[in-house]
Amino acid sequence: MPGLEDQLRRPVRGMRDITPEQYYALKKVEEGLSKVAEAFGYRRIETPAVEHFEVLARKAGREIVDEIYYFRDKAGRELGLRFDMTVPVARVLSYRLDEPKPVRWYYFTKVWRYDEPQHGRYREFHQFGVELVGSDSPRADAEVLALMAKSLEAVGVRDYVIKLNDRAAMDRMLASLGVGGSREEVLRALDKRGKVPDGEILEMLRRAGLDGATAEALMALISERRPGSEAPDFFSKYDRDLGERYSRIVKALDAYGVLGRFEVDLSIVRGLDYYTGLVFEAYAGEYRLAVGGGGRYDNLIELYSGVKTPALGFAIGVERLMEAAGIIRAERPLDYYIYPVTEDAFKTAVEVAEALRDKGASVAVDLGELTLREALERAAKTGVAYFVIIGRKELEKGVVRIRDMRKRVELEVELDRVRGGLASPYAP
Ligand code: HAM
Repeated sequence: MPGLEDQLRRPVRGMRDITPEQYYALKKVEEGLSKVAEAFGYRRIETPAVEHFEVLARKAGREIVDEIYYFRDKAGRELGLRFDMTVPVARVLSYRLDEPKPVRWYYFTKVWRYDEPQHGRYREFHQFGVELVGSDSPRADAEVLALMAKSLEAVGVRDYVIKLNDRAAMDRMLASLGVGGSREEVLRALDKRGKVPDGEILEMLRRAGLDGATAEALMALISERRPGSEAPDFFSKYDRDLGERYSRIVKALDAYGVLGRFEVDLSIVRGLDYYTGLVFEAYAGEYRLAVGGGGRYDNLIELYSGVKTPALGFAIGVERLMEAAGIIRAERPLDYYIYPVTEDAFKTAVEVAEALRDKGASVAVDLGELTLREALERAAKTGVAYFVIIGRKELEKGVVRIRDMRKRVELEVELDRVRGGLASPYAP
């Protein structure tokens, strides 16, 4: 039987099937992360996967525009799949102008990028993120940074660092080196640092119009690393007001108890074009790729709504985070497997199953195609907690036989007790 060709059996390139044991691991991470966001007063938002292409393309940056899944619907509309949630959030707020500010929203959802698939780089993946819209306060920056740190901790990542930089400081630096119009191209080249060899970046900088000496000087400048606590001093070199802003951010991060996790790293420039101020990326343990990134985007909302609205946020790549944290799968075995030995016992088996389900247990009733032995073997293999046998003998005595699969003991329990849903919570 030939069936599907081999290639068609696999998901589309860059996409992944999420089987139940992976799904429950994902769900657990979703619960952990959502809890942190909710605890900080953020509320969940979901938007359509499909957006008008023009909305997506407006401020994505050239590289991301090339990565948008683009298509026309049957009516000829130009559409695309969202590549992040920051743009859809900006769009939602453009028609909900009276949403009380600051808006605190979070999401845990799928996004799509026509990226070159490789380790940690997919075409369909999940992002968990937050957007804090309508505040220019340094405390808002610190809140979002702290929230990122707490999110990583919530899923058990202990060894992590959040590297930060500021686009305004970068602008000053580029201006001092005499770099003018090609700024975005230069930033895009710098964003490749660590991802491609330095020689290639120098070449990109030259293509962006920098002479050899300037490109070398820039590469040397962005090698700078400082502990987060030195950010105020460091950024005041570029701009006194910026230094002042960072001294307030640092104070607030200290209040959150996470200051030690931050590092100034001038090579963090970020690939998206909408950033205007603070930018940051999170790295976990030995995992080479960023598990998350974010920043301040004070001009993006205005691009959609016409109203100037400061904002910032971050997104964590959930698949990368799970891999970095070693969260791969989570089994969700059945609490009960009910085996009516005879046809007569089926009705009782269903009654018992319904009573247990009412108590919140997860219960399957045998479909009558397996022998008792086969059913028991399968239950042992899939981690069922209790195996319930109802045969003619049991029916006559008004009992069921419950086998505790872990302790490997069996006991008889009166049918009436089982019908009542048993005692606490599922155990006989
Ligand atoms: P981003 O850096 O493009 O930022 O993506 C955030 C995270 O998504 C990355 O750090 C990475 O973990 C994950 N990610 C990105 N591309 C892929 C991929 N192809 N496969 C797997 N994971 C990937 C944003 O998306 C911004 N919207 C973040 C933000 C929110 N800025 C302000 N608010």
